[in-house]
Amino acid sequence: MRGLNGKVAVVTGGAQGLGKAIAHRLSEEGCKVWIFDLKQQEGTETTKTIRLATGNPVYFVKVDISKEDHIEKAFLQVAEESGIVDILVNNAAQFIFRGIEATAQEWKEILDVNIVGNSLVTQYCVPLMKKAGAGAIINLSSVSGFVGQTGFATYNATKFAIRGLTKCWAIDLSDFHIRVNSVCPGYIRTDAFDNSCIQLGIDPEEENARISKLHILGRQGTPEEVSGVVAFVASDDASFITGEDFMVDGGYLAK
Ligand SMILES: NC(=O)c1ccc[n+]([C@@H]2O[C@H](COP(=O)([O-])OP(=O)(O)OC[C@H]3O[C@@H](n4cnc5c(N)ncnc54)[C@H](O)[C@@H]3O)[C@@H](O)[C@H]2O)c1
Repeated sequence: MRGLNGKVAVVTGGAQGLGKAIAHRLSEEGCKVWIFDLKQQEGTETTKTIRLATGNPVYFVKVDISKEDHIEKAFLQVAEESGIVDILVNNAAQFIFRGIEATAQEWKEILDVNIVGNSLVTQYCVPLMKKAGAGAIINLSSVSGFVGQTGFATYNATKFAIRGLTKCWAIDLSDFHIRVNSVCPGYIRTDAFDNSCIQLGIDPEEENARISKLHILGRQGTPEEVSGVVAFVASDDASFITGEDFMVDGGYLAK
């Protein structure tokens, strides 16, 4: 893809799942990638794996995006070593699935990561993008940011809000040549999916079959099918696209 080689990219939640695939793809495209994640061990292993596979620089910083001092310190490190940021992927998320019964504490926990955390990461990143003279911000929303789902109020409210942030930031940052878009996956089969099925005592294959039927294409997506779209949106091939939502949902919303 055009314009990715040599760019500096920050991917939050890049230790595993979609974030790992996104970090890998951006590294394959020639980006210098910074992974911010809570999980030290997974983050370090992922960084090593990607670096070995692509031969490009990949760095890991242990960051809890619900803590402003962590974010500030992490971007100081990026500024010191890379000087600028060209691409930010706001991918890290807290998963709390609760309906009307959600407690104030549960709301606080999910909002602190999915809304306040993503917003502060972006706030601290923008000066480094202004220094670069341009930038691309990609926020991970979901099909859950378009429709209601049973018992999902806490999560879906944040995924709707991320699309709102995308549109407001696209307007606020346009003067600085910073494009802001959302990528909205359907169900994507990750290790976390299989692990949470096992924890809940559900057979992952049976659950996969049930969820697959929700998509016109009759299956869950792969992390690589999301990372390819993120790379496109970050690249110069998408230079006239901002404030937009990109569905990667196997037709989930088309029915
Ligand atoms: N997997 C799916 O089916 C799916 C579908 C639609 C949207 N999404 C979105 O894609 C993104 C990634 O999802 P995933 O399935 O890969 O999740 P995942 O749980 O596999 O990975 C999330 C990563 O974020 C990190 N993280 C969580 N809280 C953090 C914090 N406070 N600070 C720093 N890092 C933190 C975790 O440690 C983990 O490495 C999320 O925004 C999610 O809402 C996922």
